[in-house]
Amino acid sequence: MPSLNDSSVAIIGLGYVGLPLAVAFGSKRKTVGFDVNQARIRDLAAGIDATLEVSGDELASATQLSFSHDLNDLRACNVFIVTVPTPIDDHKRPDLTPLIKASETLGKVIKHGDVVVYESTVYPGATEEVCIPVIEKLSGLRFNQDFFAGYSPERINPGDKEHRVHSIVKVTSGSTPEIADFVDALYRTIVLAGTHRASSIKVAEAAKVIENTQRDLNIALINELAIIFGKLGIDTLEVLEAAGSKWNFLPFRPGLVGGHCISVDPYYLTYKAQEIGYHPEVILAGRRINDNMGQYVTDQVVKLMTRKRIHVVDANILILGLTFKENCPDLRNTRVVDIVRELEEYHAKIDIFDPWANREEAHHEYGYTLLESLPEDKRYDAVILTVGHKQFREMGAEGIKKLCAESHVIYDVKYILPKDAVDARL
Ligand SMILES: NC(=O)c1ccc[n+]([C@@H]2O[C@H](COP(=O)([O-])OP(=O)(O)OC[C@H]3O[C@@H](n4cnc5c(N)ncnc54)[C@H](O)[C@@H]3O)[C@@H](O)[C@H]2O)c1
Repeated sequence: MPSLNDSSVAIIGLGYVGLPLAVAFGSKRKTVGFDVNQARIRDLAAGIDATLEVSGDELASATQLSFSHDLNDLRACNVFIVTVPTPIDDHKRPDLTPLIKASETLGKVIKHGDVVVYESTVYPGATEEVCIPVIEKLSGLRFNQDFFAGYSPERINPGDKEHRVHSIVKVTSGSTPEIADFVDALYRTIVLAGTHRASSIKVAEAAKVIENTQRDLNIALINELAIIFGKLGIDTLEVLEAAGSKWNFLPFRPGLVGGHCISVDPYYLTYKAQEIGYHPEVILAGRRINDNMGQYVTDQVVKLMTRKRIHVVDANILILGLTFKENCPDLRNTRVVDIVRELEEYHAKIDIFDPWANREEAHHEYGYTLLESLPEDKRYDAVILTVGHKQFREMGAEGIKKLCAESHVIYDVKYILPKDAVDARL
């Protein structure tokens, strides 16, 4: 393995996770940021990060960082960190294609003594059972003799400027005790909050996937409570605030669970569980509840409209927010689309406004043409506040009511407005 001083790092996949990591390493040591997306490489070389995770100043401060989509530029590196996506397919099974392709790339450039560290979220065992054999096959090198591996899961939270690479404790692991020491020491050079050294790659893989599974299930419980309280005519937020006065009540809120982590990672774990003959009950129940929240919100809105004698067919409905979370341009796996699709089945006319989303990406991914700005003259029969962007909070009840027809419904998924300013909230 390389010595810490001689380590030059390549980051494979420069998305929400890879870029901040590349910037962190690139301000300490020679680092190559590699991505197959040439447009992304062009933007980054010009100092632009479309994910808004890293500012132009931060990019400029990483003086030893270069960007490339040419795998020949990886040959001079001796530590390779893989941060490519790990999505699920249409049947909600892990899609390891990007991980396999990245491993193929590494198989072509890896040399004696090099170290590969995976960061992408996977199920326990994926690194050693799936990725390493690909590298061995393409390189002809032998694992743990000629080259080594580690796993250090990412904990980045898109749009969060407080919890960043250097300030989040990082779990590390290695394929031998010496490599575990090396990987740990390497990350300690950039993570000020320190590291937690797991005893094996599998333990580190499992730790990551359960972080998101736990969060998914906690939200699922609160979503189920919101459905029950909705039927009982009790305001969920008021109940949660009351219960939250107890020291050990966890402060989760109901909502749509989208994105490419929390709503995806549990399926990696359940896939592996099923592969070894165990059928997970609780995890999949939570997934079902969370995946149905879009339909639940639509049902509530349609009921409220019907009670006010507002025809849903041909109604003008405004959706405020499309991204999967607030104050962030990330559109991946947003569950707002479930609400839009459900309402389209009623032949309502849907407008979507999102000041954070990239309009071309929204069109490309979902076929939606987002409003460029809020119309001055159009009056909506219903407004659904789906994402808690700061712009919507700033509009306040007055600003949002101005968009509405005289008889209207306002439904607030994210507790943006006071209770008495809306017809209902989740
Ligand atoms: N974003 C998060 O909040 C977060 C948090 C924790 C963990 N993770 C995990 O980290 C991993 C990466 O997530 P992300 O959000 O950064 O993804 P992303 O989609 O933002 O970025 C992935 C990048 O990898 C590139 N890429 C894909 N295949 C490649 C290949 N074969 N070679 C080189 N580059 C390739 C893509 O072009 C893209 O730029 C995933 O496993 C994810 O689950 C993400």
